[in-house]
Amino acid sequence: MTGRFPEGFGFGVASSAYQIEGATTEGGRGESIWDRFCRVPGHIANGESGDVACDHYHRYVEDLDLMAGLGISLYRFSIAWPRLFPAGKGAPNQAGIDFYRRLGEGLRERGITPLATLYHWDLPQAIQDKGGWANRDTAYRFAEYAATAYDSLGDLVHRWVTQNEPWVTAFEGYGYGSKAPGERDWPTALRVAHHVLLSHGLAVQAFRDRRSRGEIGIALNLTPIYPLTPTVEDRAAAHLMDGFHNRWFLDPVLRGGYPADMVGELAERFGPLDFIQPGDLTTIAQPIDFLGINYYFSARVFADPEEPPLGVRSAPATHHTTAMGWEVTPNSLHELLLRVRREYGDIPLVITENGAAFDDEPPSNGFVDDPQRLAYLQAHLEALGRAITDGVDVRGYCAWSLLDNFEWQHGYSKRFGIVYVDYETLRRIPKASAHWYRELIASENGGGQA
Ligand code: FCB
Repeated sequence: MTGRFPEGFGFGVASSAYQIEGATTEGGRGESIWDRFCRVPGHIANGESGDVACDHYHRYVEDLDLMAGLGISLYRFSIAWPRLFPAGKGAPNQAGIDFYRRLGEGLRERGITPLATLYHWDLPQAIQDKGGWANRDTAYRFAEYAATAYDSLGDLVHRWVTQNEPWVTAFEGYGYGSKAPGERDWPTALRVAHHVLLSHGLAVQAFRDRRSRGEIGIALNLTPIYPLTPTVEDRAAAHLMDGFHNRWFLDPVLRGGYPADMVGELAERFGPLDFIQPGDLTTIAQPIDFLGINYYFSARVFADPEEPPLGVRSAPATHHTTAMGWEVTPNSLHELLLRVRREYGDIPLVITENGAAFDDEPPSNGFVDDPQRLAYLQAHLEALGRAITDGVDVRGYCAWSLLDNFEWQHGYSKRFGIVYVDYETLRRIPKASAHWYRELIASENGGGQA
């Protein structure tokens, strides 16, 4: 694989605040919707929560050293909105800002570029109490919070992601109800998706208005969808699912409008999309500097009128799957990257997440062998390298995740880390995949073995 990646390519890892920080009541942090959601029995596997998580809030120096030891050049983390605005409004909480300043300084000292996500799902509960993302006002609160982050961290952080996976925020949070706040109402979910996209546009505007230094983009989870069979029904089902997962977010951000076929389809099923106000689509389509893509798997689908919300079902995986049941499909990443360039133009791309959960064996003699994760990362980096060779402008790659962590409704049962976390002692142990990644980075940097 040596030599495939351009000069300056960012070899990174990704994380998010609620999944690793813990210390949910320290430093003046306010309650988030995930704190609340986790307390309801039945929501999270084994009744777990992010209360302690990886205790990164106290152990961030060790984690910075771990990254430096691996040769990581790009670190994607998220800022917890309830650390900056514990009650969702008012004056910013200095202790929260100070934590991210210490993190930013630690990254600078180690020569690691920070990539900060402003929203990775931990909405202040106080804002949820006023309707959360179903309330249009939340988009404006988000822009204010974003402006505070730019002003207080902008000397340390020059790369920003506004929203992480609006699809998940809206459709898992308010449609399927599997993630916080756990509502199940599809018309509301569509409204939420729009407000989240609006908040993205407003935050980009705020970034430009204050002439903040650096680059800003959004991270979309994109899922290539294929028809299970070549029948007209299955092909229509695949087109619809592609609209729902991919085009509903790509088109407004990069083309300035929702896809017409989907507007008709969704309005017919869920009522008028009257939450779209004049000017919104111009706001949402503010030029961005890069598109972040979170990629995990592709899906094959077929028509099934009984399946909510759109009468389309995913076929069971036929071959190798991860512990999440997600099929391992690296070639689809290559196809996806070429498609994005073909259909949406030659915008710089960053793979903001890619990785796999497997049931790792506990450490033996201080070593964790994770051949399946290693093979997954290798295959996806290989597919990415091919896309770059084919001319796609990809600037960086963030493996999800640095550490095993709190995997939302699955609690700690799904391990995505390239570094193993012993949840009893919170000890970190780099897995074989981390050692492999370190060697890859060293050889790409021309240094052979690190
Ligand atoms: C993505 C999320 C991330 C993590 C991975 C496995 O959807 O952005 O926080 O949970 O999936």
